Amino acid sequence: MPPTTDPAGVASPAGGPPRKVVVLASGSGTLLQALLDDPAPKPYEIVAVGTDLDDCVALDRARAAGIATFSCRVRDHADRAAWNDALATAIEAHGADLVVLAGFMKLVGPGFLRRFEHRVINAHPSLLPAFPGMRAPADALAHGVRVTGCTVFLVDAGVDAGPIVDQRAVPVAPDDDVTTLHERIKVAERDLLVDVVTALTRAPYSVTGRKVILR
Ligand code: GAR
Repeated sequence: MPPTTDPAGVASPAGGPPRKVVVLASGSGTLLQALLDDPAPKPYEIVAVGTDLDDCVALDRARAAGIATFSCRVRDHADRAAWNDALATAIEAHGADLVVLAGFMKLVGPGFLRRFEHRVINAHPSLLPAFPGMRAPADALAHGVRVTGCTVFLVDAGVDAGPIVDQRAVPVAPDDDVTTLHERIKVAERDLLVDVVTALTRAPYSVTGRKVILR
């Protein structure tokens, strides 16, 4: 059963566990793998993994775990709105309670978000609101920050701008390049994502303005 949203903007998963989670990814899928490998008893089940590409390593990881996969490519649709609709329909077909963007390299639009209000989270490799966008580790290095990190947030119509669920700080080493820094961030990001998905599916949560309140 999907979460309910009251007029004050409060979203909460209704019904009993496990919650159904659909993960979207475009790349190597190490964040997905962290969710798959978490040995703790889970209040959620990953029911499908989707991509915007023909295929990707993340889908290989899903197949190896016996999880359903799907591909929804922008170029197979008349426009972005039609792609958003098709993507949302593919996710709804799996009964998703929560949608996890884990290295998904496309922006989802308002038509998509309306169908999953407060139920789409994204992992981002910086301490938002610093360094939004596709080059966060490179931007952090270029700025010379000593500490960066990772954020999991509820996706809204902005770019990396939605209410923050949780964050972890990661130090920048003097000899870091983009690869070493991003890899160190991803170590923290995997733990963060597992903790956030567990928290959001274990108990109802509320969203008031920019505040996400976990129980
Ligand atoms: C992660 O660092 C994630 O935050 C980032 O891609 C990486 C995916 O890693 N996503 C974005 O930058 C989205 N704007 P993975 O493919 O190894 O899971």
